[in-house]
Amino acid sequence: MTMRNIQLDDKGRLRHFLTVEGLTRPILTEILDTAESFAGVGAQAVKKVPLLRGKTITNLFFEASTRTRTTFELAAKRLSADVLNINISTSATSKGESMLDMLRNLEAMHCDMFVVRHARSGAAHFIARHVAPHISVVNAGDGCHAHPTQAMLDMFTIRRHKGEFHKLRIAIVGDILHSRVARSQIHALSLLGAHEIRVIGPKTLIPRDVSTFGVHVFHDMRAGLADVDVVMMLRVQKERMQGAFLPSEHEYYQLYGLTEDKLSCAKHDAIVMHPGPINRGVEIDSRVADGPRSVILEQVTNGIAVRMAIMAMVLGRGASDDAETRRTGDRG
Ligand code: CP
Repeated sequence: MTMRNIQLDDKGRLRHFLTVEGLTRPILTEILDTAESFAGVGAQAVKKVPLLRGKTITNLFFEASTRTRTTFELAAKRLSADVLNINISTSATSKGESMLDMLRNLEAMHCDMFVVRHARSGAAHFIARHVAPHISVVNAGDGCHAHPTQAMLDMFTIRRHKGEFHKLRIAIVGDILHSRVARSQIHALSLLGAHEIRVIGPKTLIPRDVSTFGVHVFHDMRAGLADVDVVMMLRVQKERMQGAFLPSEHEYYQLYGLTEDKLSCAKHDAIVMHPGPINRGVEIDSRVADGPRSVILEQVTNGIAVRMAIMAMVLGRGASDDAETRRTGDRG
Protein backbone atom coordinates (compact mmCIF):
# COMPACT_ATOMS: atom_id res chain seq x y z
CA MET A 1 0.00 0.00 0.00
CA THR A 2 1.44 3.41 -0.94
CA MET A 3 1.62 6.37 1.45
CA ARG A 4 -0.86 8.19 -0.78
CA ASN A 5 -3.35 5.37 -0.27
CA ILE A 6 -2.91 5.45 3.47
CA GLN A 7 -3.26 9.23 3.83
CA LEU A 8 -6.05 9.91 1.36
CA ASP A 9 -9.55 8.52 1.13
CA ASP A 10 -11.06 7.28 -2.13
CA LYS A 11 -12.14 10.85 -2.98
CA GLY A 12 -8.57 12.15 -2.55
CA ARG A 13 -9.31 13.91 0.75
CA LEU A 14 -7.05 13.78 3.78
CA ARG A 15 -7.90 10.84 6.04
CA HIS A 16 -4.65 10.82 8.01
CA PHE A 17 -1.81 13.38 7.98
CA LEU A 18 1.41 11.40 8.20
CA THR A 19 3.89 13.00 5.82
CA VAL A 20 4.01 15.77 3.22
CA GLU A 21 5.52 13.31 0.75
CA GLY A 22 2.86 12.00 -1.62
CA LEU A 23 0.46 14.92 -1.08
CA THR A 24 -0.35 17.51 -3.75
CA ARG A 25 0.03 21.26 -4.10
CA PRO A 26 -3.78 21.76 -3.93
CA ILE A 27 -3.94 19.89 -0.60
CA LEU A 28 -1.06 21.91 0.87
CA THR A 29 -2.65 25.12 -0.39
CA GLU A 30 -5.98 24.12 1.15
CA ILE A 31 -4.22 23.58 4.50
CA LEU A 32 -2.64 27.05 4.27
CA ASP A 33 -5.91 28.72 3.22
CA THR A 34 -7.90 26.94 5.93
CA ALA A 35 -5.29 27.94 8.51
CA GLU A 36 -5.62 31.54 7.35
CA SER A 37 -9.33 31.38 8.14
CA PHE A 38 -8.54 30.14 11.68
CA ALA A 39 -5.72 32.59 12.39
CA GLY A 40 -8.01 35.19 13.95
CA VAL A 41 -9.64 32.82 16.44
CA GLY A 42 -6.85 33.33 18.98
CA ALA A 43 -7.53 37.09 19.04
CA GLN A 44 -11.27 36.69 19.73
CA ALA A 45 -12.72 37.34 23.20
CA VAL A 46 -13.93 33.71 23.17
CA LYS A 47 -11.11 31.76 21.54
CA LYS A 48 -13.30 28.96 20.21
CA VAL A 49 -15.28 27.84 17.18
CA PRO A 50 -17.70 24.89 17.31
CA LEU A 51 -16.35 23.01 14.29
CA LEU A 52 -15.23 19.80 16.07
CA ARG A 53 -17.72 19.84 18.92
CA GLY A 54 -18.41 16.26 19.98
CA LYS A 55 -15.10 14.92 18.61
CA THR A 56 -12.46 13.41 20.90
CA ILE A 57 -8.78 13.92 20.10
CA THR A 58 -6.05 12.02 21.96
CA ASN A 59 -2.47 13.24 22.23
CA LEU A 60 -0.06 10.29 22.37
CA PHE A 61 3.42 11.68 22.88
CA PHE A 62 5.99 8.93 23.37
CA GLU A 63 8.81 11.52 23.07
CA ALA A 64 9.37 14.92 24.72
CA SER A 65 7.68 18.01 23.29
CA THR A 66 6.79 21.53 24.37
CA ARG A 67 5.52 23.38 21.29
CA THR A 68 3.90 20.58 19.29
CA ARG A 69 1.97 18.95 22.13
CA THR A 70 0.65 22.17 23.62
CA THR A 71 -0.32 23.73 20.29
CA PHE A 72 -2.14 20.53 19.26
CA GLU A 73 -4.03 20.67 22.55
CA LEU A 74 -4.86 24.37 22.12
CA ALA A 75 -5.85 23.82 18.49
CA ALA A 76 -8.21 20.98 19.42
CA LYS A 77 -9.75 23.02 22.26
CA ARG A 78 -10.22 26.05 19.98
CA LEU A 79 -12.16 23.76 17.64
CA SER A 80 -14.31 22.72 20.66
CA ALA A 81 -13.11 19.10 20.59
CA ASP A 82 -12.59 17.12 23.80
CA VAL A 83 -8.88 16.42 24.39
CA LEU A 84 -7.17 13.54 26.16
CA ASN A 85 -3.46 13.86 26.95
CA ILE A 86 -2.01 10.42 27.66
CA ASN A 87 0.99 10.53 29.95
CA ILE A 88 2.94 7.65 28.46
CA SER A 89 5.34 7.33 31.43
CA THR A 90 2.41 6.78 33.84
CA SER A 91 0.20 4.81 31.42
CA ALA A 92 -0.33 1.04 31.57
CA THR A 93 2.36 0.61 28.88
CA SER A 94 4.77 0.90 31.84
CA LYS A 95 3.09 -2.29 33.19
CA GLY A 96 3.79 -4.19 29.99
CA GLU A 97 0.69 -3.32 27.93
CA SER A 98 1.55 -3.15 24.22
CA MET A 99 1.02 0.05 22.26
CA LEU A 100 -1.62 -1.64 20.11
CA ASP A 101 -3.54 -2.83 23.17
CA MET A 102 -3.46 0.72 24.53
CA LEU A 103 -4.81 1.98 21.19
CA ARG A 104 -7.61 -0.64 21.24
CA ASN A 105 -8.67 0.66 24.67
CA LEU A 106 -8.66 4.26 23.45
CA GLU A 107 -10.72 3.17 20.45
CA ALA A 108 -13.20 1.58 22.88
CA MET A 109 -13.58 5.06 24.45
CA HIS A 110 -14.75 6.35 21.03
CA CYS A 111 -11.74 8.56 20.26
CA ASP A 112 -11.80 10.09 16.77
CA MET A 113 -8.15 11.05 16.29
CA PHE A 114 -4.72 10.10 17.61
CA VAL A 115 -1.97 12.72 17.45
CA VAL A 116 1.26 10.73 17.68
CA ARG A 117 4.87 11.63 18.40
CA HIS A 118 7.37 8.80 18.60
CA ALA A 119 11.15 8.42 18.53
CA ARG A 120 10.90 5.65 15.91
CA SER A 121 10.59 6.54 12.23
CA GLY A 122 7.40 5.04 10.82
CA ALA A 123 5.51 4.88 14.14
CA ALA A 124 2.62 7.08 12.94
CA HIS A 125 2.27 5.03 9.72
CA PHE A 126 2.27 1.84 11.80
CA ILE A 127 -0.52 3.16 14.00
CA ALA A 128 -2.51 4.44 11.00
CA ARG A 129 -2.38 0.96 9.48
CA HIS A 130 -3.72 -0.62 12.66
CA VAL A 131 -6.41 1.75 13.95
CA ALA A 132 -10.13 1.23 13.49
CA PRO A 133 -11.48 2.67 10.23
CA HIS A 134 -13.21 5.65 11.87
CA ILE A 135 -10.00 6.91 13.54
CA SER A 136 -7.60 9.38 11.95
CA VAL A 137 -3.91 9.67 12.82
CA VAL A 138 -1.82 12.85 12.68
CA ASN A 139 1.97 12.56 12.81
CA ALA A 140 3.46 14.96 15.36
CA GLY A 141 7.03 13.86 14.53
CA ASP A 142 8.49 10.35 14.04
CA GLY A 143 12.20 9.71 14.52
CA CYS A 144 14.31 11.21 11.75
CA HIS A 145 11.51 10.69 9.22
CA ALA A 146 8.84 13.41 9.15
CA HIS A 147 7.33 16.33 11.06
CA PRO A 148 4.66 17.40 8.59
CA THR A 149 2.66 19.79 10.78
CA GLN A 150 5.89 21.67 11.61
CA ALA A 151 6.63 21.97 7.90
CA MET A 152 3.14 23.29 7.20
CA LEU A 153 3.33 25.93 9.95
CA ASP A 154 6.69 26.93 8.48
CA MET A 155 5.10 27.24 5.00
CA PHE A 156 2.28 29.30 6.50
CA THR A 157 4.79 31.64 8.17
CA ILE A 158 6.81 32.01 4.95
CA ARG A 159 3.70 32.71 2.85
CA ARG A 160 2.52 35.37 5.30
CA HIS A 161 5.85 37.19 5.16
CA LYS A 162 6.98 36.57 1.60
CA GLY A 163 3.97 35.68 -0.56
CA GLU A 164 4.39 33.39 -3.54
CA PHE A 165 6.89 30.52 -3.20
CA HIS A 166 8.04 30.54 -6.81
CA LYS A 167 9.98 33.77 -6.19
CA LEU A 168 11.80 32.53 -3.11
CA ARG A 169 15.31 31.27 -2.47
CA ILE A 170 15.34 29.40 0.84
CA ALA A 171 18.25 27.98 2.88
CA ILE A 172 17.89 25.18 5.43
CA VAL A 173 20.93 25.17 7.70
CA GLY A 174 22.47 22.64 10.08
CA ASP A 175 21.85 19.02 11.01
CA ILE A 176 19.92 17.91 7.92
CA LEU A 177 20.91 14.26 8.43
CA HIS A 178 18.92 13.74 11.64
CA SER A 179 16.17 16.26 10.94
CA ARG A 180 12.60 15.12 10.36
CA VAL A 181 11.77 18.83 10.09
CA ALA A 182 14.16 19.37 7.16
CA ARG A 183 12.79 16.37 5.24
CA SER A 184 9.23 17.63 5.57
CA GLN A 185 10.25 21.22 4.78
CA ILE A 186 12.03 20.12 1.57
CA HIS A 187 8.98 18.13 0.39
CA ALA A 188 6.63 21.02 1.18
CA LEU A 189 8.83 23.69 -0.46
CA SER A 190 9.21 21.51 -3.58
CA LEU A 191 5.48 20.88 -3.85
CA LEU A 192 4.71 24.58 -3.37
CA GLY A 193 7.18 25.49 -6.14
CA ALA A 194 9.96 27.31 -4.28
CA HIS A 195 12.42 28.89 -6.73
CA GLU A 196 15.50 27.40 -5.02
CA ILE A 197 16.02 25.22 -1.96
CA ARG A 198 19.52 25.17 -0.46
CA VAL A 199 20.83 22.99 2.32
CA ILE A 200 23.88 24.16 4.26
CA GLY A 201 25.93 22.13 6.71
CA PRO A 202 29.04 20.03 7.30
CA LYS A 203 29.46 16.92 5.14
CA THR A 204 28.85 14.71 8.18
CA LEU A 205 25.37 16.20 8.72
CA ILE A 206 24.09 16.19 5.13
CA PRO A 207 22.59 12.94 3.74
CA ARG A 208 24.56 11.62 0.74
CA ASP A 209 21.43 11.35 -1.42
CA VAL A 210 20.08 14.83 -0.57
CA SER A 211 20.55 16.19 -4.11
CA THR A 212 17.94 13.67 -5.31
CA PHE A 213 15.44 15.91 -3.49
CA GLY A 214 16.24 18.75 -5.92
CA VAL A 215 18.20 20.89 -3.45
CA HIS A 216 21.54 22.66 -3.83
CA VAL A 217 24.15 21.69 -1.24
CA PHE A 218 26.57 24.17 0.37
CA HIS A 219 29.23 23.49 2.97
CA ASP A 220 30.28 27.14 3.20
CA MET A 221 27.59 29.01 5.13
CA ARG A 222 28.30 32.48 3.76
CA ALA A 223 28.13 31.21 0.16
CA GLY A 224 24.93 29.31 0.92
CA LEU A 225 23.23 32.30 2.51
CA ALA A 226 24.04 34.69 -0.37
CA ASP A 227 20.84 36.34 -1.57
CA VAL A 228 18.38 34.07 0.23
CA ASP A 229 14.91 35.28 1.28
CA VAL A 230 14.43 32.82 4.14
CA VAL A 231 16.93 31.22 6.54
CA MET A 232 15.58 28.11 8.24
CA MET A 233 17.86 27.02 11.08
CA LEU A 234 17.86 23.54 12.58
CA ARG A 235 18.77 22.26 16.02
CA VAL A 236 21.87 20.10 16.33
CA GLN A 237 20.23 16.84 17.40
CA LYS A 238 22.77 15.34 19.74
CA GLU A 239 20.28 12.76 21.04
CA ARG A 240 20.15 11.16 17.57
CA MET A 241 23.93 11.12 17.00
CA GLN A 242 25.80 7.90 17.65
CA GLY A 243 29.41 8.73 16.92
CA ALA A 244 31.44 11.83 16.09
CA PHE A 245 29.43 13.99 13.70
CA LEU A 246 30.76 17.30 15.06
CA PRO A 247 34.31 18.39 15.90
CA SER A 248 33.05 20.48 18.86
CA GLU A 249 30.10 22.78 19.57
CA HIS A 250 32.47 25.74 19.51
CA GLU A 251 33.83 24.87 16.07
CA TYR A 252 30.29 24.13 14.79
CA TYR A 253 29.18 27.58 15.97
CA GLN A 254 32.15 29.22 14.26
CA LEU A 255 31.28 27.56 10.94
CA TYR A 256 27.48 27.16 11.00
CA GLY A 257 26.09 29.19 13.91
CA LEU A 258 23.86 32.00 12.60
CA THR A 259 25.39 35.29 13.70
CA GLU A 260 24.50 38.82 12.56
CA ASP A 261 27.67 38.79 10.47
CA LYS A 262 26.73 35.62 8.56
CA LEU A 263 23.10 36.78 8.24
CA SER A 264 24.33 39.90 6.43
CA CYS A 265 25.03 37.62 3.41
CA ALA A 266 21.28 36.99 3.01
CA LYS A 267 18.87 39.54 1.51
CA HIS A 268 18.42 42.62 3.70
CA ASP A 269 14.79 41.60 4.43
CA ALA A 270 15.42 37.87 4.87
CA ILE A 271 13.50 36.27 7.72
CA VAL A 272 15.05 33.85 10.24
CA MET A 273 13.18 30.74 11.29
CA HIS A 274 13.81 27.88 13.72
CA PRO A 275 11.39 25.10 14.72
CA GLY A 276 12.64 25.11 18.32
CA PRO A 277 13.85 24.19 20.78
CA ILE A 278 16.78 26.52 20.05
CA ASN A 279 20.31 26.00 21.35
CA ARG A 280 21.68 29.51 21.80
CA GLY A 281 25.37 29.74 21.07
CA VAL A 282 25.35 26.40 19.20
CA GLU A 283 23.28 26.92 16.02
CA ILE A 284 22.13 30.50 16.58
CA ASP A 285 23.32 33.64 18.33
CA SER A 286 20.87 35.24 20.78
CA ARG A 287 21.09 38.58 18.95
CA VAL A 288 19.70 36.87 15.84
CA ALA A 289 17.19 34.63 17.65
CA ASP A 290 15.74 37.64 19.48
CA GLY A 291 16.41 40.15 16.69
CA PRO A 292 14.06 41.98 14.31
CA ARG A 293 14.35 39.43 11.50
CA SER A 294 13.48 36.45 13.69
CA VAL A 295 9.96 35.00 13.27
CA ILE A 296 10.61 32.09 15.64
CA LEU A 297 7.81 32.90 18.09
CA GLU A 298 5.41 33.70 15.22
CA GLN A 299 6.01 30.13 14.03
CA VAL A 300 4.75 28.91 17.41
CA THR A 301 1.60 31.06 17.21
CA ASN A 302 0.96 29.99 13.62
CA GLY A 303 1.25 26.36 14.68
CA ILE A 304 -2.14 26.64 16.39
CA ALA A 305 -4.03 27.78 13.27
CA VAL A 306 -2.22 25.30 11.03
CA ARG A 307 -2.93 22.39 13.39
CA MET A 308 -6.57 23.52 13.62
CA ALA A 309 -6.72 23.40 9.82
CA ILE A 310 -5.17 19.95 9.57
CA MET A 311 -7.41 18.47 12.28
CA ALA A 312 -10.50 20.04 10.70
CA MET A 313 -9.61 18.72 7.24
CA VAL A 314 -8.71 15.24 8.47
CA LEU A 315 -12.02 15.01 10.34
CA GLY A 316 -13.88 16.10 7.22
CA ARG A 317 -14.43 19.77 7.99
CA GLY A 318 -12.14 21.55 5.52
CA ALA A 319 -12.07 24.84 3.65
CA SER A 320 -15.37 24.16 1.92
CA ASP A 321 -17.24 24.10 5.22
CA ASP A 322 -19.00 27.07 6.66
CA ALA A 323 -16.25 29.70 6.85
CA GLU A 324 -18.62 31.86 8.88
CA THR A 325 -18.52 29.19 11.61
CA ARG A 326 -14.80 29.78 11.99
CA ARG A 327 -15.13 33.52 12.30
CA THR A 328 -17.81 33.45 14.97
CA GLY A 329 -17.38 32.57 18.62
CA ASP A 330 -18.69 29.38 20.23
CA ARG A 331 -22.38 29.26 19.42
CA GLY A 332 -22.78 25.96 21.20
N1 CP B 1 9.38 22.07 16.94
C1 CP B 1 9.06 21.06 17.76
O1 CP B 1 8.68 19.96 17.36
O2 CP B 1 9.18 21.39 19.09
P1 CP B 1 8.79 20.41 20.30
O3 CP B 1 9.76 19.28 20.31
O4 CP B 1 8.86 21.27 21.56
O5 CP B 1 7.39 19.91 20.06
